[in-house]
Amino acid sequence: MHKISDPKEMQRYSLEEKRQGHTVGLVPTMGYFHAGHLSLMRRARQECDRVVVSLFVNPLQFGPQEDLARYPRDLGRDAALAAQEGVDVLFLPEVEAIYPPGYATYVEVTGLTEPLCGRYRPGHFRGVTTVVAKLFNLVQPDVAYFGQKDYQQAVVVARMTADLGWPLRLVICPTVREADGLAASSRNVYLNAEERRQAVCLYQALEAGKQAIAAGARRAQEVVRVMAEVIARYPLARIEYAEVRRAGDLATMEELRGEVVLALAVWLGQTRLIDNAVVEVG
Ligand code: PAJ
Repeated sequence: MHKISDPKEMQRYSLEEKRQGHTVGLVPTMGYFHAGHLSLMRRARQECDRVVVSLFVNPLQFGPQEDLARYPRDLGRDAALAAQEGVDVLFLPEVEAIYPPGYATYVEVTGLTEPLCGRYRPGHFRGVTTVVAKLFNLVQPDVAYFGQKDYQQAVVVARMTADLGWPLRLVICPTVREADGLAASSRNVYLNAEERRQAVCLYQALEAGKQAIAAGARRAQEVVRVMAEVIARYPLARIEYAEVRRAGDLATMEELRGEVVLALAVWLGQTRLIDNAVVEVG
């Protein structure tokens, strides 16, 4: 596995591989790999001739009060895991290489970035789309892999990709979960033992919401209430948002039909967790 930190060298590598007729798959990450990241790498390895994993903790997508400074990092372990998955290139740019002095260009998707996480993390998606746009230009992928775990992120990146006309395909991979249902996340390490036990409330709430829909619930508010009741049983959990929206464009719906997304952000102590489930309403 090559490690590349220079953006220009990264771009030269990809352009040369593509000139030789090889397809390039990109898995953008912020590192501290878990089973979710590895599932994206595995999928890319199956589908592409060359697999590039970027590891960049992007300061632009963190708010001033957020966890940038303490975001977990373990480069040695990440490099070993990526090598095990057969990754060809681990792209590890420095912050100054991505945002050099004088950097002034931002990519912003409107509308889709306003609700859900966008409401509580102003500027977050602008940071995500700016760095992902830059990664697309540096790595020139034929296919880019994202997780359903960050559903709104996947929708926003898909919108940006279509709007700006990148000649690449996006693959959205299913959420990988721990045995009790908690979605794998780099931030799960922040949880103490009791918070970790109660963190199952997100998955339990989504399951209860899905069951309510299966049993005939058709009002968004009713499904939200079911999810909130589950979370209320866990004293360390505090809901930031619990919503049901139309899948794809995140439009609000009172009466549920078609494909919908149940979306949650819940604080466990000082740790913010998100999860979602996409359901076809019969
Ligand atoms: P990060 O949180 O490191 O996640 C990298 C990718 O892994 C994202 O596409 C995310 O959706 C996916 N992922 C995370 N947890 C997952 C899980 N449990 N199952 C499946 N996939 C999962 O998301 C980011 O980084 C950043 O915002 C990034 C896109 C890299 C831009 O900086």
